[in-house]
Amino acid sequence: MEKQLEDLKTAFCEDLDHIRKPEEIELLRIQYLGRKGRLTSILRQMGTLSAEERPRMGALSNTLKTFLEGSLEEKTRSFSTEAPVSGIDVTLPGRVLRRGSIHVINQVMAEVEGIFHNLGFATATGPEVEDDYHNFEALNLPENHPARDMQATFYFPEGTLLRTHTSPVQIRVMESTELPVRIISPGKVYRCDFDISHSPMFHQVEGLWVEEGISFAHLKGVLYEFIHTLFGPDIPLRFRASFFPFTEPSAEVDMGCIICKGKGCRVCGNSGWLEILGCGMVDPEVYRFVGIDPEKVTGFAFGLGIERVAMLKYGIDDIRLFFENDLRFLSQFSTKGMP
Ligand code: FA5
Ligand code: MG
Repeated sequence: MEKQLEDLKTAFCEDLDHIRKPEEIELLRIQYLGRKGRLTSILRQMGTLSAEERPRMGALSNTLKTFLEGSLEEKTRSFSTEAPVSGIDVTLPGRVLRRGSIHVINQVMAEVEGIFHNLGFATATGPEVEDDYHNFEALNLPENHPARDMQATFYFPEGTLLRTHTSPVQIRVMESTELPVRIISPGKVYRCDFDISHSPMFHQVEGLWVEEGISFAHLKGVLYEFIHTLFGPDIPLRFRASFFPFTEPSAEVDMGCIICKGKGCRVCGNSGWLEILGCGMVDPEVYRFVGIDPEKVTGFAFGLGIERVAMLKYGIDDIRLFFENDLRFLSQFSTKGMP
């Protein structure tokens, strides 16, 4: 009987080694310790033993039984502790996915576009990599014209350039569209400019309305309507005479500085005013380049800086904040609320 117990232990250890799934443990327990199990059937023979042998065999089989039960328990534990061993702590909180949101500049851009759409303007677009003809020449800025210096330009070696304003879209639209024309053109523009209110890449929205009988009064009416819709009817505005080679007469529009309420601060250069757009009546020279007869139609154009509008709208005193990608700044303008 002692030999039987020893063989049983060897067989059990072998079987235990082959266990790969937790549900196999119970099967093994039944096979060895169950009512019809292998150990039980050996113990049934106790009655046949002599009185001297019985206590020793009893002790041996008890030890074996404890061993079997202990081994099965340990095996069970080995399965339940497997996860932490492989480096995954299932009690840790999950990773939260941050939800993105529309960039504040794109939000303001959409709002501006919406106002002009309501005023009957359609959207037109043009390339960011422009040729000299559309960005300068056809806008009455011939080579060596001093006004080219107003816009520090990024040139490519092959003679193309990054457009410095959205005005080349005026030319492209007038080249290809029948009159009347009433468009806005939103997009990125580039200049070698970098300080608190100038960014090397920024956004403009161009406007162009060419039709019989259009006057400076229409220009004023459209721009007042636009600015008062965006900022409210009480905002102070001024038209300041200016110069652009492609408009005559020309003006720049300043808004009362919202940040200092006109008192003077570092954003408005202590003037109390901030320039947001340039505008004017399309110069007859420009019509010559696109084959329109200036005796028959007139029109106005304007170009405004979206970052300037956003700075005024939200009281932001440094244009560079828009492009530093600091989520603490950007999430203030989240449309959905960031987690
Ligand atoms: C122009 O770019 C003209 N094309 C506007 C125009 C169009 C005039 C049609 C007449 C007819 P200007 O260089 O002033 O003009 O720029 C227009 C606006 O862009 C400015 O009023 C300002 O709001 C914005 N702006 C100019 N440079 C920068 C810059 N580096 N960073 C951010 N905004 C700028
Ligand atoms: Mg200007």
